[in-house]
Amino acid sequence: MTTDNKEIILSGIRPTGRLHYGNYFGAIRHFLRLQEADARCYYFIADYHALTTITDRQEIYRATLDMLRTYVACGLDPHRSIIYRQSDLPCTAELTLLLGMVTNIGHLERGTTYKDKLSKIQEDPKVEGNPLSYGLLGYPVLMAADILIVRADLVPVGDDQRQHLEMACDIATKFNHRFGEVLHVPRPLGRDALRLPGLDGAAKMGKSDHNTLDLLDDPDTVLRKIKAVPTTTDPAPLNTDSNDPEIVLDKMPSGVGVLYRLLSLLAPEEVYLDYLDQYRKGGKFYGSLKKSVAEYVSQFNAPIIARYNDPAHDDAFIEDFLRVNAKRVTPIALETVEACREAMGIGHSLYRA
Ligand code: TRP
Repeated sequence: MTTDNKEIILSGIRPTGRLHYGNYFGAIRHFLRLQEADARCYYFIADYHALTTITDRQEIYRATLDMLRTYVACGLDPHRSIIYRQSDLPCTAELTLLLGMVTNIGHLERGTTYKDKLSKIQEDPKVEGNPLSYGLLGYPVLMAADILIVRADLVPVGDDQRQHLEMACDIATKFNHRFGEVLHVPRPLGRDALRLPGLDGAAKMGKSDHNTLDLLDDPDTVLRKIKAVPTTTDPAPLNTDSNDPEIVLDKMPSGVGVLYRLLSLLAPEEVYLDYLDQYRKGGKFYGSLKKSVAEYVSQFNAPIIARYNDPAHDDAFIEDFLRVNAKRVTPIALETVEACREAMGIGHSLYRA
């Protein structure tokens, strides 16, 4: 048990390379806010999970360090939050095995990530990667272990992870039902995560869709990407007097909606309102809108890029805090695994230090 009554918050992101605006406004912004609250925050890079898709062994370690460096550049503080690498807590793998004993295969087969991959393989059997591995089917069990091992109270995740989170709660409930109240069932965090559309106007910004705006993009790249956002000379009328982004953005052509979304997140309100007014009046203003959005984006990125490139945040610094934080998270994790072993009847490990 922890020594205080602080809420325990946990979330993870797979090391997919550079962090983009979708990651920031969907997740990291919340991590930062929660870090300010009086809570115990655990944020980790899910490198075990990445093994379900990444096959290049050079890439995975590098991507993990780069993501951690970007976390720090965004303002996550490895002293206040416990920022760690999933695989530095190998007892998570043991808990995954134990939880697997109460996990129904049918339940896992209904997982959307698994089903998506299955249908892709059925379309094209030569699809890259590690097709339909045991690891992919078990992805939600590993995620449940991540959550349950630290006895998380709150798990802030985006919509796409909601099903996984529900599965984690189901697995914990089933375990407790069978073996006694050993696991702490978390409650999902209220739905305030923002789903940012892609720069191509697609519903979601995602690395595999090649439609991202990245936190480390320099001003030239930002301008190039923003200029390429599809706009139309014949925008639809908004049919509302509201200026609320949640109401008006959906009424715009999707690419235009992305530009206004960025403006609403990054620019002073009067700038957003002024451009909304121009939209309502019609006319040629996309050139100026794009230039303005690109400037706000670059202003937002500048301090993150500077901190990312700060020589103090080198690999040695990251490896140091990873070592310290792995030690901070290990006791509670081992305690959970030992409690599960005990409850299931195999008892304590005689060889665990
Ligand atoms: N599956 C999550 C994703 O792809 C990452 C993740 C792994 C996670 N374990 C977790 C998120 C535990 C929250 C809690 O984004």
